[in-house]
Amino acid sequence: MASKSFQSPKGMPDILPQDQAYWEKVRKIVKDLSGIYGFSRIDTPIVEDTALFERGTGEATEVVSKQMYSFKTKGGYNLTLRPEGTPSIARAYIQHGMINLPHPLKLYYIGPFFRHEQPQSGRFRQFHQFGFEIIGEKSPVLDAQIIQIFLTICENLGLKNLSIHLNSIGCPSCRPEYRKVLKDWLGAKSKKLCLDCRVRIKKNPLRVLDCKDEKCKQMINGAPNIIDYLCSDCKTHFKKLLEFLDELEIPYFISPFLVRGLDYYTKTVFEVFSDAGEEDPVALGGGGRYDVLISDLGGKDTSAVGAAFGIERLVNLMKKQQVKLSQRPAPKVFLVHLGDLGKVKSLKLFNDLYRAGIIAGEAFGKDSIKSQFKIADRIGAKFSLILGQQEALDNAVILRDMESGVQEVIPLPNIAVEVKKRLRKVVIKK
Ligand code: HAM
Repeated sequence: MASKSFQSPKGMPDILPQDQAYWEKVRKIVKDLSGIYGFSRIDTPIVEDTALFERGTGEATEVVSKQMYSFKTKGGYNLTLRPEGTPSIARAYIQHGMINLPHPLKLYYIGPFFRHEQPQSGRFRQFHQFGFEIIGEKSPVLDAQIIQIFLTICENLGLKNLSIHLNSIGCPSCRPEYRKVLKDWLGAKSKKLCLDCRVRIKKNPLRVLDCKDEKCKQMINGAPNIIDYLCSDCKTHFKKLLEFLDELEIPYFISPFLVRGLDYYTKTVFEVFSDAGEEDPVALGGGGRYDVLISDLGGKDTSAVGAAFGIERLVNLMKKQQVKLSQRPAPKVFLVHLGDLGKVKSLKLFNDLYRAGIIAGEAFGKDSIKSQFKIADRIGAKFSLILGQQEALDNAVILRDMESGVQEVIPLPNIAVEVKKRLRKVVIKK
């Protein structure tokens, strides 16, 4: 019987070696900028209490109602593979008494997340996000700073032609009125909506504004605009945010129907898109303010704002926009071995050189000296270090200048110093 060939789970792709340089670039830029902007890293578990997402992300959201990987443990606990990071951050903030730390508290995270979605371009079941959260400040200047950080990350990644879509979805004091007006407006037209939206009208009418169905999209064009229903606090907050963005010369679109798919947002919401003109563009990242999440989860009244970006989508765009990646420089020195003793000594020499700060190339798997020299030529090595039976016994190595072909015998203990000296000369000669 032929043995079964395994595949990675649907929607959970491998990140292959040829893509790692893109991921490394993202991780490095996120790490560097988090330091510059004063964010500390936090890692929360991949699984959390299911109720955390039900209460935090919101039971009526698609993420919670349709996309969670939930299971019962042998001990009888209901756990869920985290579909997003913000509730976990709020949980950790409360659990560890972070309220006693200096504020605003700036935290960032990076890692895998899980949503049971239909896999398609830019949509996976295991994907990766990095997120930044600023906890303990009401001021819109921090909403602007979050947007600024994400744009700086995209810029440092070499990405171009991005657009920011912004909205304010009010707060618990002004949103109910808008919700009611919208519900009445949608109710009168419910027959023209998709089946999902007919249910949404009752449970969460704002979510209809976000529907991707063409019929629904057409219809909501005439819907009442939330900006007209904001209370004075939310209005001032939004106005100030726009002023800050203008001052930072960050262009944006005000998108009155941008509501985001998670329940905890208050006031500012935003998403970043690439302007590639795709028919159904996917957001590279998104976020907003969440002034009541921490108190809803049992903490003190604490304002917060944050956002997260999807790394797969950024990497995809980096490829599309042909972002240049820095290449690891090829080794300038190549180890050539002859015979078993030479091979063993070369294996040790590789590490000794590394400890002395010299990265060497090698082909330990190849015994033919001809093929080893071929590789040395191909990578453009300046010198080869040849170790055969005789050299191994003499505790020496032959240093060959690859350009002139001149060879010298050097005592093995001196080789690192000699190589460094010669490499310096090569640089000076140029
Ligand atoms: P979100 O919009 O659900 O927000 O996800 C943020 C980003 O994660 C998306 O813009 C997208 O790039 C990526 N993403 C989401 N789902 C998938 C998927 N199935 N496949 C690939 N990429 C995906 C949040 O998660 C919030 N926690 C952001 C936030 C932080 N708000 C405040 N603080």
